[in-house]
Amino acid sequence: MKANTRRGNRLAFDEVAAVYDQARPGIPDHLVTTIVDITGLAPSDPVLEVGAGTGQLTMPLRAAGVEVTAVEPGERLRALLSKRTAGDSGVTVLGGFFEDLPDLQAPAGTFAAVVSANAWQWLDPSVSYTKAADLLRPGGHLALIWNFPIVADTRLQHELNKRAFGDYPDAVRDPATHLPGLQAHAAEGRAELAASDRFETPWWQFTTDTLSLSPDAYYDLLLSYANAAVLDAAARTDMAHRVHTVLTDHGADTVPMLNHLYACIARRADR
Ligand SMILES: C[S@@+](CC[C@H](N)C(=O)[O-])C[C@H]1O[C@@H](n2cnc3c(N)ncnc32)[C@H](O)[C@@H]1O
Repeated sequence: MKANTRRGNRLAFDEVAAVYDQARPGIPDHLVTTIVDITGLAPSDPVLEVGAGTGQLTMPLRAAGVEVTAVEPGERLRALLSKRTAGDSGVTVLGGFFEDLPDLQAPAGTFAAVVSANAWQWLDPSVSYTKAADLLRPGGHLALIWNFPIVADTRLQHELNKRAFGDYPDAVRDPATHLPGLQAHAAEGRAELAASDRFETPWWQFTTDTLSLSPDAYYDLLLSYANAAVLDAAARTDMAHRVHTVLTDHGADTVPMLNHLYACIARRADR
């Protein structure tokens, strides 16, 4: 995905760490299998994960047997990740921004893969690709993934847009343009990767899973996005009420979602 120019929001998730931890869907096993297959990762291979959050990708990577060094700048998110991985010697949790990571913490030429889920767009693209390439060993891969859930019932999504998201326009999703918009953003992200001149032409794909959320889980998901942290308590309460009213009027006791998944995997270019 193309770099986010509102980089000032990159720590906003830390403001809603507990909600984030509960609400965000984990990275599905099939996507982790795809990463392992394409990168050729083997058990015990060292992997650097950037923007690990509370472990949405870290945990399935560990289940795949690789050793993870997880970078997470958010203090509260990092505390939850450290708690979740306590006692697992296969996970090392580091604080700070990836761009500022000292060489001693992540030595150049070390990693079989640098991976990131839902986080790479927050990095400075003039640094991120070059730094990742330097940290990778020859033949190593950069694997970037994102997930983008949207309400599957377009009539319900339109109702929510109209009646619930007045104070939170960032929650509005247009079913007609959602996926094409993501595809355009993804193409711009691949152009940034190509401009770094440090990776081979990437393999990439979009796939779509389904999710079924309870009304509360759907509301928490809305609040887990970066821009939700700016909502004050009154705006949150009001939105919760509006969301629940729309769902009730719609007779929806669950919210079916389409979860669009994008993966982009590139091998380090040999020089
Ligand atoms: C949307 S969350 C993704 C968390 C998790 N990987 C997931 O898939 O749910 C983005 C994460 O990137 C982290 N982040 C933002 N800027 C970063 C940077 N420059 N270096 C490393 N992590 C960063 C944030 O703190 C946040 O945890």
